[in-house]
Amino acid sequence: MIIASNFKTNHTRKSTQEFVSFVDEFVKNSSSSVEVRIYPTATALNSFECDKSIQVGVQNFYPVQNGSFTGEIGFEQLEEFGIKSVLVGHSERRHVVKESRELIVQKFDFAKQKGIEIIFCIGEPKEVRESGLDTVMEYVLKQLDGIDLDYDKLIIAYEPVWAIGTGLTASNEDIKETLKRLRETVKKPLLYGGSVKVDNVEDILNIDNCDGVLVGTASWKAEDFCKMISTAQKI
Ligand code: 13P
Repeated sequence: MIIASNFKTNHTRKSTQEFVSFVDEFVKNSSSSVEVRIYPTATALNSFECDKSIQVGVQNFYPVQNGSFTGEIGFEQLEEFGIKSVLVGHSERRHVVKESRELIVQKFDFAKQKGIEIIFCIGEPKEVRESGLDTVMEYVLKQLDGIDLDYDKLIIAYEPVWAIGTGLTASNEDIKETLKRLRETVKKPLLYGGSVKVDNVEDILNIDNCDGVLVGTASWKAEDFCKMISTAQKI
């Protein structure tokens, strides 16, 4: 089971340190075997010393070692903090920042070449969901074009765009059917993301083919994030 927290544009350097320490202590005290991932903002990165089940990664990077790319963060800056896990293709980068498909594939290839874990995010907008599951599958499988699905450190996060940050979770049936269809193509761990909360995480983690969750809003309080880790531990 993988329980991941995406901080997005939240928390400061100080509160990130407090969050990571809190989660680390919780994991150590509960002898949890859940794989925990935390993606803070780049300004809060540090050489965190945590339990081996916890990895602090990044939400974004530019696919270069270093160079002249004003405002971007290259891999040299991640290596300084021992970063071994990245998010690629998150819907907010695709739809809000307007990151192109080409750049997303370049980021995937770069991270793969570096041998680090990639949580690759896919998901459909509302109008696509309203057209039915076949249209959803066509849309999300297209997002996987050019991505090496055999990469050993690949994790796929299915996050319907309309469920992100809206409080609207996909129905358990929709999640189940979508993950089932994705499983025909993807042999790697599959996460669900989109308004996962303390109250619904157990049901979601019990869905067939669901290997974990990627959580935004409801994970930003360390106590709540730990409750989700605890729930995963029992499953
Ligand atoms: P919310 O949990 O806030 O809906 O965000 C989900 C998400 O985008 C995780 O990457």
